[in-house]
Amino acid sequence: MREDKTMDIAGKVAFITGAGSGIGRASACAFARAGASVMIVDMNESGLMETAGLIEEIGGAVATMTVDVTDGSSVAAAVAATVERFGRLDCAHNNAGVGGTPAELAESDEASARQVMDVNFWGVFHGMRAQIAVMLRQGGGTIVNTASAAGLVGLPSLSVYSASKHAVVGLTKTAALEYATRGIRINSVCPGVIETPMSTPLFEVPGLHAAMAAVHPIGRFGLPTEIADAVLWLSSSASSFVVGASIAIDGGSTAQ
Ligand code: NAI
Repeated sequence: MREDKTMDIAGKVAFITGAGSGIGRASACAFARAGASVMIVDMNESGLMETAGLIEEIGGAVATMTVDVTDGSSVAAAVAATVERFGRLDCAHNNAGVGGTPAELAESDEASARQVMDVNFWGVFHGMRAQIAVMLRQGGGTIVNTASAAGLVGLPSLSVYSASKHAVVGLTKTAALEYATRGIRINSVCPGVIETPMSTPLFEVPGLHAAMAAVHPIGRFGLPTEIADAVLWLSSSASSFVVGASIAIDGGSTAQ
């Protein structure tokens, strides 16, 4: 007989990075709407406060921490503060990221490239390391990392961004294998272009807006809520057999 599985998020404790804007904000609000208590983390304090206000309007329990995810000890402190405040950590969404400056590889600036790796790769690494330690003690949990469609295929003019997201996909798969039998499910979402403040500057590069729209067979860009829906599903027992997956949510762009 088929087991009845639901989006059993109510009563859980979720930790979301990059929650001061875009996809992270949509994810935090979705967790709150589903009945989770949420710790929201970002380096942009005003964005964070705006998200906290939205969650309070929803009626959810929320705590905030201003954290730079490139700093491992600050990320560990935020994870510890989550447990202190809400008693446990069930669901983590490592989502903070930066796009970097679009340029072909030979014209890429090293400092900017290192910053992209620092946030997009090391930020996820720091998050997972602290979260897994807590989840092992608890006996389980779920982690969803925000990679990108550019973590599955190359993206001209954003080579280091693409490399950082391929790294997130690799980290997700390997950690998922390491912890699969210990109750921790780890997956990533790979969005196509989503309408958030991050994608806006890309559209100012001549020709890039039209080129990006053209590679989405659905004929439009995505919405932050369309990523949040998948994050929630991956964080609930409705996805209980999904382990180490990197799910393209990209209007068909990587299906071509
Ligand atoms: P966004 O710019 O709207 O939000 C990113 C958030 O991350 C911001 O609030 C920012 O303050 C925060 N952040 C950046 N660096 C940080 C740091 N060092 N420490 C703490 N917080 C930091 O961007 P969006 O679109 O919501 O991006 C979220 C994730 O989705 C990123 O990982 C991005 O790479 C990924 N993504 C976005 C796509 C898009 O088209 N918007 C497409 C594919 C992936």
